[in-house]
Amino acid sequence: MIRTELCEVEGIPLAEPICSIWNQVWNFKARPDDLLIATYAKAGTTWTQEIVDMIQQNGDIEKCKRASTYRRHPFLEWYMPGPSPNGYSGLELAEAMPSPRTMKTHLPVQMVPPSFWEQNCKIIYVARNAKDNLVSYYHFHRMNKALPDPGTMEEFMEKFMAGKVLWGSWYDHVKGWWKAKDKHRILYLFYEDMKENPKREIQKIMKFMGKDLEQEVLNKIIHNTSFEIMKENPMANYTKDFVGLMDHSVSPFMRKGVVGDWKNYFTVAQNKKFDEDYNKKMANTSLVFRAEL
Ligand code: A3P
Repeated sequence: MIRTELCEVEGIPLAEPICSIWNQVWNFKARPDDLLIATYAKAGTTWTQEIVDMIQQNGDIEKCKRASTYRRHPFLEWYMPGPSPNGYSGLELAEAMPSPRTMKTHLPVQMVPPSFWEQNCKIIYVARNAKDNLVSYYHFHRMNKALPDPGTMEEFMEKFMAGKVLWGSWYDHVKGWWKAKDKHRILYLFYEDMKENPKREIQKIMKFMGKDLEQEVLNKIIHNTSFEIMKENPMANYTKDFVGLMDHSVSPFMRKGVVGDWKNYFTVAQNKKFDEDYNKKMANTSLVFRAEL
């Protein structure tokens, strides 16, 4: 299997076939009742998808298991592996889907198709602290042969800091969406808050979605979207998708699911360098992250 090389649209590193189909992505027609889950890759997308689906299905896990997360929520700019050379396009799947649709994207805010803003769609954005996001992304590159070879952790760290990774700069991504939330219907969540108090954060999501569910249903959602349960759920742990591309023996998709794992990877010198660079890049925002709980 040949690993993908990155291509570029408007200065943002993407992967083929996204660059080739970019006009189609940009011209995607959102509907007013669409819900978009947006994240920088590895910030807790799948977790949020599962929570949203559980809320939509009123806590019925069997209904959530009707298909894998990947198939339930079209990935706007991506292709799913399939029989044709490019597999199935997320766009085509979304277009064929009845309303109300839930989709996911990793696009930076300025690259979201304009129809989402025109239709005033609800968007849930989840951000994760840079260090844990980086470590998770590194392991994901190792196990997912559809992504470029990450090299060593040191090399990957350099690429991450320079924004020379798929979906571009983490710093610009989280800041861009943070700014956009003041103008649009965006619920901006943090992975660390979700870990600290899943009940509180799930309640926020429910409120944003306009759902009021009973305590018993809420408890079911908390339980079924815990890391331990999702790790064993084949419809959520990606063992049903990208077979042959994702090698879970190298690193499972549901890897650790914790805050602060970066401490096991960053050397003291790397941490110092990372922090200095971070402080410069994040000086112009009110956005604050917690890298430990
Ligand atoms: P780690 O690699 O740090 O374990 P995404 O879905 O955006 O690709 O993010 C994947 C990351 O979210 C992985 O992080 C994965 O373990 C974590 N994750 C997935 N489900 C989770 C859950 N229910 N609770 C906590 N973390 C979860």
